[in-house]
Amino acid sequence: MNANVVSDIDVDANTNTEIAADSSVEERGLAEGLSRHNASGPDTPADVLITAKDLHTYYGDSHVLKGISLIIRAGETISLMGRNGMGKTTTLRSLLGLTPARSGRICFRGQDTTRWPTHKIIQLGIAYVPEDRGIFPNLSVRENLIMAARPGPDGRNEWPLDRILEYFPRLKERIDNMGNQLSGGEQQMLTIARALMTNPDLLILDEATEGLAPLFRREIWSVIKDIKETGIATIIVDKDIHALLSVCDRNYIISKGQVAWEGDSRQLQKEPELHKQYLGV
Ligand SMILES: Nc1ncnc2c1ncn2[C@@H]1O[C@H](COP(=O)(O)OP(=O)(O)OP(=O)(O)O)[C@@H](O)[C@H]1O
Ligand SMILES: [Mg+2]
Repeated sequence: MNANVVSDIDVDANTNTEIAADSSVEERGLAEGLSRHNASGPDTPADVLITAKDLHTYYGDSHVLKGISLIIRAGETISLMGRNGMGKTTTLRSLLGLTPARSGRICFRGQDTTRWPTHKIIQLGIAYVPEDRGIFPNLSVRENLIMAARPGPDGRNEWPLDRILEYFPRLKERIDNMGNQLSGGEQQMLTIARALMTNPDLLILDEATEGLAPLFRREIWSVIKDIKETGIATIIVDKDIHALLSVCDRNYIISKGQVAWEGDSRQLQKEPELHKQYLGV
C-alpha cells in the first residue's frame, strides 16, 4: 500500500475508534522501526517539544495575538481551529519567528527560542508547510525534493529519496515534471514529502487540504495519519473539523487571537455548542 491508496481513511469519521482500528500503517510499513516518541507519558522536559506562553504578536499597530499559550509534546498531533482571521497562521508564524511575538516566551525542548531567527529555529527539527505551499515552480520534483534533504537534529536520516518515492508513487511518476506542472494535490504531496526529507521532530501544516479535490484531501489525511504513527509531532490547521478530530490528539480553538478552548478530540466531539460558537459548523 502507499499514499495513492485512499480508501483506508474515512475523513468524515468522527470517532477515534476508526483510526485505532485502521491497519493501513502496518500494511504500508511506513512506521516500522521509526516510532520513537511516546505522547502519553508524563510531561518530563524531554517529552515536551514546544511551550508557548502568553504570546502577543502585532502586524504594525494591529494587535493580533493577545496572549496565546500552547504546548506540544513529542509525538503529539494537535490542531489549531477557528474561523478565518482569528490568528491561526499568525500563531504558527510566531512559533517559527517569521512574525516574532512582541512579548511572551517560546521554548523548544527547554531552550528559549523567543528571539531566535527562523533558520535557527527550523534547525531544531521543524518542517513548515505554509498555506501557499512554497514549492519551487521552475524546479523538477526531484530537484524540489533533493534541495530539502537534510539529516534530522540528531543526525538521523530516515527519509532518503528512494523511500519517499516508494511511499509517494505519484511523485515518482512525476519526478521529472516541473513544480508548476503538478496539480494542487500533487503539489501538497510534494511539500509534505519535502518536509519529511528534513527528518523533522515536528511538522507544521497550515491549511493542509485547502483547495484540494476530495480524492487528494483523503490522500493527505491518510498520509498525515501515517506520519503520526511514525512518531513525528504535527500541528495542523485545516477547515475540515471532522478530519481534524479523527486524527488529532488535542485541539486548540483560536478566537480573536486567544485560546478560547483546548482539549482532546473526544471532548470536542461532544461539544456542539463550541462548534457552533467558534467553528461555524
Ligand atoms: N501581513 C499582515 N498584515 C496585517 N494584518 C495581517 C497580516 N496577516 C494577517 N493579518 C491579520 O491578522 C489577523 C489574523 O490573521 P491570520 O492569518 O493569523 O488568521 P487565520 O486564523 O490564519 O485565518 P484564515 O483561516 O483565514 O487563514 C487577521 O485579522 C488578518 O487580517
Ligand atoms: Mg491562516
